[in-house]
Amino acid sequence: MNNNTLFHAIDQLSEIGYFVWDDFISKEEIKTLISIANKGKHSGDFKKAGIGKQALFQLDKSIRGDYIQWLDRKNNHESVQRFLDQIELLKNNLNETCYLGIKDFETHFAIYPENTFYKKHVDRFQQNAHRVISFVLYLNENWKEDHGGELANYLDHKIEKVAPLAGRLLLFRSELEHEVLMSYKTRYSLTGWMLDKDMSLTFLP
Ligand code: OGA
Ligand code: MN
Repeated sequence: MNNNTLFHAIDQLSEIGYFVWDDFISKEEIKTLISIANKGKHSGDFKKAGIGKQALFQLDKSIRGDYIQWLDRKNNHESVQRFLDQIELLKNNLNETCYLGIKDFETHFAIYPENTFYKKHVDRFQQNAHRVISFVLYLNENWKEDHGGELANYLDHKIEKVAPLAGRLLLFRSELEHEVLMSYKTRYSLTGWMLDKDMSLTFLP
């Protein structure tokens, strides 16, 4: 992990709330991750994503249209594991420099079929109060402007759009409002959240 980029990321996360990290992983890794996602898709491991947790869970295509597959922290394909190891490193660095108290993270693959989106929302809310930093690794090779699918970040006085380009890691504070704009082409990513709670301690609220 490049130290200069890391310092820049930490600085931008605290200054403006988000950071775009290009070429976070290599082109070969991207291809492998796409093929793992496609395999999961064909074997039916992806489920329609919902909103809310547990009793409040609901499926609503007018809010989000993606399909997801949650990842284990262990027993992953080695490319997935390498990515999770990098996130672990990033997590430790963020804790050392920003005292964010991140204890764990959760990650899923996401596939947005053509003509789907995810309306404006925040990732940290009542039922998901432990999300501190959101991260999205995009896997879309040859993505063109007219394919849409940008992540729109709602900052204080402006909206900033980030294209879902292959190898790009987007980091943002989970309380920021954001939206996935209509994607006109199938859109792949690995999406996750750094949490201020250890997920293995699920008996705690
Ligand atoms: C999400 C989300 C952003 C993206 O899954 O909560 O906002 O760009 N994803 O895929
Ligand atoms: Mn989100």
